[in-house]
Amino acid sequence: MDFLSSTTHLHITTWVVALILFLIAAFSSKKLTAVHMILRVMYILVIVTGGALFLEWRDKIVESGMNYDMKVLFGILVIGFMEMILVRKNKGKSVNMFWVLFGIVLLVTLYLGLSMGIGVNF
Ligand code: HEM
Repeated sequence: MDFLSSTTHLHITTWVVALILFLIAAFSSKKLTAVHMILRVMYILVIVTGGALFLEWRDKIVESGMNYDMKVLFGILVIGFMEMILVRKNKGKSVNMFWVLFGIVLLVTLYLGLSMGIGVNF
C-alpha cells in the first residue's frame, strides 16, 4: 500500500476536502444532507490515509515519540467536533462552545502534523 504511505499528499487532500465540505455545511442556512453524507465518507478516507501513515512511520520516527500518537488522537478529535457541530446545528442546539474546541484541536493537529517526521516540515 505504498501509495497511501509514501507521501502525505493523499492525507492532506482528504482532510482539506473534508474541511471545505464541513465549512459549506456549517455555514449554510439550510440542512445540506448530501454534503454531510459525502463529508462522512471523507472522514473515513482521512482516517484510512492517516492510519496508513501512522502504521508506516510510527516506529521509524522515534524522536517524535508520543507526539505521533497524539497526532492521531487530535486528528480524530477534529473529526468528532466537525460531526458534533453539524448534528447540533441541524437540531437547532447551540454550537458556540464546540466551535472554540474545534478551533483549538484543529490548530494542535496542524501543528503536530507539520512539525513531525515526514512530509512538509517546519
Ligand atoms: C481533519 C483532521 C486532520 C487534519 C487537519 C490533519 C492534518 C495533518 C497535517 C497538516 C499533517 C502533516 C502533513 C505533512 O507534513 O506533509 C498530517 C500528517 C499526518 N496525519 Fe493527519 N490530520 C487529520 C486527521 C488525521 C487522522 C484521523 C489520523 C490517524 C488516523 C492522522 C494521522 C496522521 C499521520 C500519521 C501523519 C504523518 C505525520 C508525519 O510524520 O509528518 N491524521 N495530518
